Amino acid sequence: MYIIMLGAPGAGKGTQADIVCHEMELPHIASGDLFREALEKKTELGLLAKSYMEKGELVPNAVTIKMILERISDPDCVSGCLFDGFPRTLEQAEALDKAFAAQGKSVDKAIYIEVPDGELIKRLSGRWICRNCQTPYHLVNSPPKVPGKCDKCGGELYQRADDTEGTEKKRLKVFHNLTVPILDYYRKQSKTIEVNGNLGIQEVAKEVISALKQR
Ligand code: AP5
Repeated sequence: MYIIMLGAPGAGKGTQADIVCHEMELPHIASGDLFREALEKKTELGLLAKSYMEKGELVPNAVTIKMILERISDPDCVSGCLFDGFPRTLEQAEALDKAFAAQGKSVDKAIYIEVPDGELIKRLSGRWICRNCQTPYHLVNSPPKVPGKCDKCGGELYQRADDTEGTEKKRLKVFHNLTVPILDYYRKQSKTIEVNGNLGIQEVAKEVISALKQR
């Protein structure tokens, strides 16, 4: 099964992707994590991505599409995966469909996690992430058992450089202008599952998993 997780910055894509991937045994392909890994390794891709990420802008389509198509050609994605943060533009959605069509595959479902903008800002401002396994925590909503340490792997928690007020607002604007339009692309194909993301983490997960299992 090939699943897309759509939603604004802070909607809970990463949080829900972790739960769904564990439940459905799917690889988790997060475009933002791939860019951050490349940056950590100081590769050309990472340094290019940084210049866009720190401004809250999207990394150019050509670079992003190439990175994702390379990643999904790995053997672990042969029969399915969950995309988190990709596609984010119509051009990316069409490129994915084209690449899949050439292999006789297709996107099965696009899950849209809907959360009001005011709540998104609160979530991003309180977010801490594991430097090692990327698990997201929230100071109020889902704090780690030991402050500063990941419950899963003991890794160090940090705050993302783009989780600052100015950049958060820019990322939301980019989401509304460039990513919201692709909802219609998947709605026309009857592939969207729209869930209320303004509930607790486990309640949202229950809704997502039950919708995926029904269909
Ligand atoms: P990316 O890393 O994808 O970030 P994003 O889309 O901005 O999304 P986030 O990771 O910020 O939020 P999330 O929805 O995963 O929320 P989370 O689960 O962490 O992209 C970063 C940058 O990379 C982009 O700006 C761009 O520059 C570049 N990029 C990436 N993909 C690209 C692409 N395809 N094309 C071009 N450029 C690209 O949750 C947030 C917080 O809320 C956490 O603290 C969590 O604990 C908490 N929380 C989660 N769910 C709930 C809930 N239900 N109730 C209460 N709290 C909750």
